[in-house]
Amino acid sequence: MNYRKMLAEHISTRLQLEIPTDEILNLIEAPKFPEHGDLAFPCFRLAKSMRKPPAEIARQLSGQLQGDLFEKVSPAGPYVNFFLNKAKVSYDVISEIISKKDRYGELMIGSGQNVPIDMSSPNIAKPFSMGHLRSTVIGNAIANILQKCGYTPVRINHLGDWGTQFGKLITAYTAWGDEKKVTENPIKELLKLYVEFHEKAEDNPGLEQQGRDWFKKLEDGDDAALHLWQWFRDESLKEFNKIYDLLDVRFDSYHGEAFYNDKMEDVVKMIEAKGLLEEDQGAMVVKLDEESLPPSLIKKSDGATLYVTRDLAAAIYRHRMYDFAQAVYVVGGEQTLHFKQLKLVLKKLGMEWADTIVHVPFGMILKDGKKMSTRKGKLVLLEEVLAESIHLAETNILHKNPNLKNKAEVARQVGVGAVIFHDLRHERMNNIEFSLEEMLKFEGETGPYLQYTHARACSILRKAETFSQADFTEGLNDLLSWEVIKRLIDFPKSIERACLNYEPSVISKYLIDLAQSFNSYYGNVRILEENPELSARLQLVEAVAIVLKEGLNLLGLAAPAEM
Ligand code: ARG
Repeated sequence: MNYRKMLAEHISTRLQLEIPTDEILNLIEAPKFPEHGDLAFPCFRLAKSMRKPPAEIARQLSGQLQGDLFEKVSPAGPYVNFFLNKAKVSYDVISEIISKKDRYGELMIGSGQNVPIDMSSPNIAKPFSMGHLRSTVIGNAIANILQKCGYTPVRINHLGDWGTQFGKLITAYTAWGDEKKVTENPIKELLKLYVEFHEKAEDNPGLEQQGRDWFKKLEDGDDAALHLWQWFRDESLKEFNKIYDLLDVRFDSYHGEAFYNDKMEDVVKMIEAKGLLEEDQGAMVVKLDEESLPPSLIKKSDGATLYVTRDLAAAIYRHRMYDFAQAVYVVGGEQTLHFKQLKLVLKKLGMEWADTIVHVPFGMILKDGKKMSTRKGKLVLLEEVLAESIHLAETNILHKNPNLKNKAEVARQVGVGAVIFHDLRHERMNNIEFSLEEMLKFEGETGPYLQYTHARACSILRKAETFSQADFTEGLNDLLSWEVIKRLIDFPKSIERACLNYEPSVISKYLIDLAQSFNSYYGNVRILEENPELSARLQLVEAVAIVLKEGLNLLGLAAPAEM
């Protein structure tokens, strides 16, 4: 139900103006103060064609635009203010939500087209950083939102599983590594080997050369090197999967950088054939002077390929594989230059789809105002943060609802929900100061608050089963429920905005608003009492439960019915 659109059509048929309906639609506003109505139409734009002052047009229009959609239509200076008919509109919206259920708010922007989403993409043998967490939860929410808007998202984990660091790691492991330790605690041990490599290399410069040699062997397909690489990859992935299981995020593809090894030669040849490959201090580059960007480094002097070469191969492969409408990359703002270069090289290669590549950057997680480092002891392990949050949720449940059946699962949903929402409630470009305390808050504008509001709505509905209810034939007419109804009407619009801006925080803010209006309704109206409005009230509660749940799910949070 799009009341703005209905009003625009109404205005354009009544007035038979030469202005297209779409333009009228764009003029319609939502007044800041409720006493000015639910919608307003400014008449300035009509003055010229109607040859009258706007205020006079507003008076005239008010007389012509009465109808059963509105309770009141009144002129206010150059504006016409519209007060929607609460009983009718609330009946329509609630009925629509209850009949569509979780499909309420679905949009057909994407008409089924594929959108690969490059997300999460941690590096093998390194810890899963807070930045990777951001990419994972923002990417997952964007995928859900795109799906709701009619696209087919493809979640791709572009693992950092290739590069010179593997040569160093193999050197360190073969020289002083311990198989048992690595098996027991792969990421921690591999990181340790990597850090030790750099420490030892300071006194023993020969190590660096050994590292390069091992990487060369790896690139040449040496059995022993490949075997170790595969083992490091498997073990790391096992660890990462523990995090994905907790977060309940799934991927359609784990093709990481290594997957493109045999696809890069073609790319380099293509660049060469176009005459774009130039030598620059021994390395091969593509110059990007036309957009004042630094050259893109395609091949190092020793022939080794690079991050961007693999991304070029990946983009071309994805385009072939998915014929995408757009290709989204949810990667931190530090890599903005990289994606600009990637796009421009593709464009110079004649890929007319280069412009459909969308880098969706996000801000950093800061510690005391500085970027968090994964080096040495400063590391905060994400798994520990999640475990702590789940533990806290469990304590809460034991305190408030000791008889809850699936305690462990609900504790996971709530604990993880706190961490996910703490990220998604900020606009993605904002930097976030890392604070365990903030992350683990369950009150205020948090995920658990939303989950709790949803569970409360479900609990009202469970209790209502003992009341006899009339059929739902009439909507609600009071101002408190109207605040909730207006929010319910806005859900599709929020989804659309979140989709067009790749901005999950639009949904987060929407849900907080909806929950607050619902909680104030609940605080002021005794819902469960014999009353002629009982049935309509309960339908409202059900509609709120449906929208809260769907909104939480879009963000990647579960909505338990009881907690
Ligand atoms: N592994 C990279 C990192 O941790 C992120 C990869 C992003 N995706 C891409 N296609 N470049 O920084």
